[in-house]
Amino acid sequence: MDRTPLWYKDAIFYELYVRAFRDSNGDGHGDLKGVIEKLDYLQDLGVNCVWLLPIFPSPLLDDGYDVADFAGIHPDYGTLDDFKELIKQAHKRNIRIITDFVVNHTSADHPWFQAARNDRNSPFRDFFVWSDTPERFPGARIIFVDTEKSNWTWDEKAGQYYWHRFYSSQPDLNYDNPAVQSEILEAMKFWMDMGIDGFRVDAIPYLFERDGTNCENLPETHAFLKKMRKYVDEHFPNAVLLSEANQWPEDVREYFGDGDEMHMAFHFPVMPRIFMSLRRESSNPLRRILQRTPPIPDNCQWCTFLRNHDELTLEMVTESDRRWMWSQFAPDPRMRLNLGIRRRLAPLLDNDFAKIVLANSLLFTLPGSPIVYYGDEIGMGDNIWLNDRDGVRTPMQWNKGKNAGFTDADKTFNPVIDTSPYDPAHVNVADQMADLASLYYLTKNMIAVRKVHRAFGWGDFKWAEPSKPKEIAAYYRSFQSETLLIVNNLTSRKQTVDIKLAEEQLFFPPPDLFTGRATGELLDGSIRLELPENGYLWLKLS
Ligand code: NOJ
Repeated sequence: MDRTPLWYKDAIFYELYVRAFRDSNGDGHGDLKGVIEKLDYLQDLGVNCVWLLPIFPSPLLDDGYDVADFAGIHPDYGTLDDFKELIKQAHKRNIRIITDFVVNHTSADHPWFQAARNDRNSPFRDFFVWSDTPERFPGARIIFVDTEKSNWTWDEKAGQYYWHRFYSSQPDLNYDNPAVQSEILEAMKFWMDMGIDGFRVDAIPYLFERDGTNCENLPETHAFLKKMRKYVDEHFPNAVLLSEANQWPEDVREYFGDGDEMHMAFHFPVMPRIFMSLRRESSNPLRRILQRTPPIPDNCQWCTFLRNHDELTLEMVTESDRRWMWSQFAPDPRMRLNLGIRRRLAPLLDNDFAKIVLANSLLFTLPGSPIVYYGDEIGMGDNIWLNDRDGVRTPMQWNKGKNAGFTDADKTFNPVIDTSPYDPAHVNVADQMADLASLYYLTKNMIAVRKVHRAFGWGDFKWAEPSKPKEIAAYYRSFQSETLLIVNNLTSRKQTVDIKLAEEQLFFPPPDLFTGRATGELLDGSIRLELPENGYLWLKLS
C-alpha cells in the first residue's frame, strides 16, 4: 500500500453494498469473500478506495444502518477473519477499504438500548435521549417523512419516549454523555487496528440536541468531531473521515473546520444540479451552486457523486425545484421516496448513452474526488416496486447467466432486475468488458485519464467563457504548470463553440486527453470546438 499523505484528494471511490455484490457461498446473500473475488475487477476498473455499506451485526431494518454490535460482522457477510483478509487482498492491489460508521444511533436491538429500556438505573440509560413528553425539540425536522410521524417514540418497557432522527428502530445516542463519546471512539479504533483506511461517517449533523434549535450542525457536534479527528490523527494518521452531511454548502464547509475536522464531505447540493443542468440544457444550476460553495482547507476534499444507495435526495433544492425534479425524473409517484427519487442513474437519464457518459464527464472533472455507485459503471437499472430503497440495491449483474452471476442460489436477497432493457441479458459486466465502446470502458477510460492528471484532484476550478455559456459547461482545472480545459455540451444538439484562450495557449491546438489528438481550430484569440450531441472534451492546454 502506498503511504501517500492526502491520498484521498486523488482517489477514485467505489461504493458497494456487500449483500448485493457477489455471493461466494451460495446462500443468496453477497458476502466479504465475494467482494474479495471481485477485487481484480475493481482494480481493473481503476478504483483505489472502496466504501462498504455497514457490515455490522444488525436486524437490517435499515440495511445495517441499525447497528446491533459495533465490533462484529453480520453473519451473512462472513467473519472478522474474512474482513482482515479483504483488507490484506485489497491493499495488495493498492485499493483502500473504508466502511460506513454509524455514529448517530444504534439499532433498538443493541445491548445498550436493551439495557437502557429495561432498567432506569442502568448505566446505559443515559446512552440514549429520553423524555416524558414527545414535545421537546419541536424545531427538528423529520427525515424519513414517508414513514415516521415524530422523532419521539414511546417505549412501553422504559416508560418514556426516546429520540430518533431516522426510523423508530434506530434510537439516537446521547452525545452529552462522555461514555458514549469514548465508546464510539473505541469502536473506531477496533476497526482501524485491523487496518481499515477510514470511515464514511453517517449522519453527522444530528449528534446533539438543544432546545430552541433545529438540532442540526450544532457547535457541540463540531467539537465532538474535532475530538474524533484528533483521535484518528494520533492513532492512524493515514485514515480518512468522509462525512455524510446532507446540508447546504456553507453548512457543510463547517465540517472541514480549519482542516482539523473531517477530511472529506459529500457535495450533496451539486448532485441534483448535475441532473438539472442536463435536463434544462443549462449550466446555470451548476454555476449557482458552485458559486455558493466556499473554499475549503488545502488538506480537505469534496466528494462528488451521481447516485448512491439512498433515494436521489432533493433536500438541498428549493421547494419549486423539487417539484420540477419530481415532474421530470419521477413521473410515476412510486418513483418518489421521502424527499427524493428512488431510481438509478441509467433509468433517470432514460438510458440515453450520451447523457449517461456526459453525467460521468461532469462527475470526473468537477472539483472533488468522484464516487462511483456499484452497477452504475455498466448502467444497471432499478426496481421501483421493491420496498424502501431496495430497488437501487439489487444484485450486481456480472454476466447473463443464472442470477446474473451474482449467486448460485435459487433465491436472492433482492430480486435481480428482470425487465428489458436493464435485465442481465442486456446489462452485464462480462459483455461490456468485451466491448470497447461500452459504458464500462468509457468509465474505465475516464478513471485512467483522471488518475494521470493531478489538476483534477488538486487543481483550482475556474469557469471558462465559451460563446454559449448556458448550453456549454466549460471550465479550467489547473495545478502547478498544468491547465486542463473541460468542455461539456449540455444540449442534445451538435454545437460549435468558441472559447477565449490566453495568449500563451494559442500556439497549437490542444491535445485531447483521451486520444492525444490535436483538437479544435485556433482563431483570433480563441479556440473553436465542435461537440456532438451531449458530447464532451477534456483538453490539455499547457
Ligand atoms: C444515511 C444513510 O445513507 C441511509 O441509508 C440511512 O438510512 C441513514 N443515514 C440512517 O443511518
